[in-house]
Amino acid sequence: MFRTFFVYLSKAAWARKIVTHWGITRRVATRFIAGDVLDDAITAIQNLNKKGICASLDLLGENTATPEDARRTAQDIIHILDTIDQYKVCANVSVKLSQIGLTLDPVMCQANLKLILDRAKQLGNFVRVDMEDSTVTQITLEIVQMMRENGYTNVGIVIQSYLYRSEKDIARLAHDGIPVRLCKGAYKEPSSVAYPKKREVDISYDKLATTLLDGAMVHDAPSVSSDGRVPPLPALATHDPHRIENAKNYASKINLPKKAMEFQMLYGIRRDLQEQLAAEGYPVRVYVPYGTQWYPYYMRRLGERPANVWFIVSNFFKN
Ligand code: FDA
Repeated sequence: MFRTFFVYLSKAAWARKIVTHWGITRRVATRFIAGDVLDDAITAIQNLNKKGICASLDLLGENTATPEDARRTAQDIIHILDTIDQYKVCANVSVKLSQIGLTLDPVMCQANLKLILDRAKQLGNFVRVDMEDSTVTQITLEIVQMMRENGYTNVGIVIQSYLYRSEKDIARLAHDGIPVRLCKGAYKEPSSVAYPKKREVDISYDKLATTLLDGAMVHDAPSVSSDGRVPPLPALATHDPHRIENAKNYASKINLPKKAMEFQMLYGIRRDLQEQLAAEGYPVRVYVPYGTQWYPYYMRRLGERPANVWFIVSNFFKN
């Protein structure tokens, strides 16, 4: 219920107006968002890199409203790739297809994605396509598959363990050797497409993680690249210690080397765990979002943990 309400708020224009103008929520947002501009994100990444942690940089924004905005966003992402190269930081990029025009015109979206992938390829970098809500799961998979068939080996996808369909999707992706980030899923989905209970989502996560880890073994367990930008095939994106422990145990059971899998977490969440895993020798990548379009991302993060909201409320009364 709590999470559902915040996912609803993330799409409500009236709530956006209130929250984005409220000083305290803006201040708390800085815990989850690296800043408004690219320089802020580069500084955040440099700090992570000093701890042996890599990043995936995300220019915040989704459901772009016009073709011009979608094209501009694609150019902005290309600029991010250039900046990563210029500063020599350990980072790749994450992209939402709705940012670059998916909901306006899938053909234009593909053209924009190709431009981004071309530049990433020239720079030896990698692009992760984030997964959005289930209305676009199929087309997102098809577009990534199409890019791979067109020779773009520097693109990967995200699978959400809450979807019933993910078992089949992940089996195919693991078979084809396509890099997958596995997460639980952040959107509000009906019980016709997604497990309604957290316990079921967790069970599904562990099962899908084993498929991914097995898949990496079948493909000779490629390691993360030496500069850290190109990830190994399986990326386990979760802050849930049980899911992490299960994945570690299974990988060790099948003798998958540590460098052939990676753990991913969100900026500002469980920094202790990020550092612990890096110290244990696993590649760790932190998703670093920046930009002025922080509202929907921020509301999804608040909805994941009631304590985040109580923190805002208690600060409101203190100030
Ligand atoms: P769970 O929600 O069970 O949380 C486990 C523990 O982690 C909590 O008890 C708490 O300690 C901590 N925690 C989790 N969320 C927190 C928060 N917001 N604030 C403070 N503590 C928190 N989703 C999606 O649909 N598409 C995508 O492309 C992505 N991409 C993505 C990339 C990366 C790197 C990560 C880590 C996550 C995503 N997600 C995502 C989000 C994902 O689906 C999920 O909503 C969140 O990661 C929270 O789920 P957990 O796996 O952490 O488990």
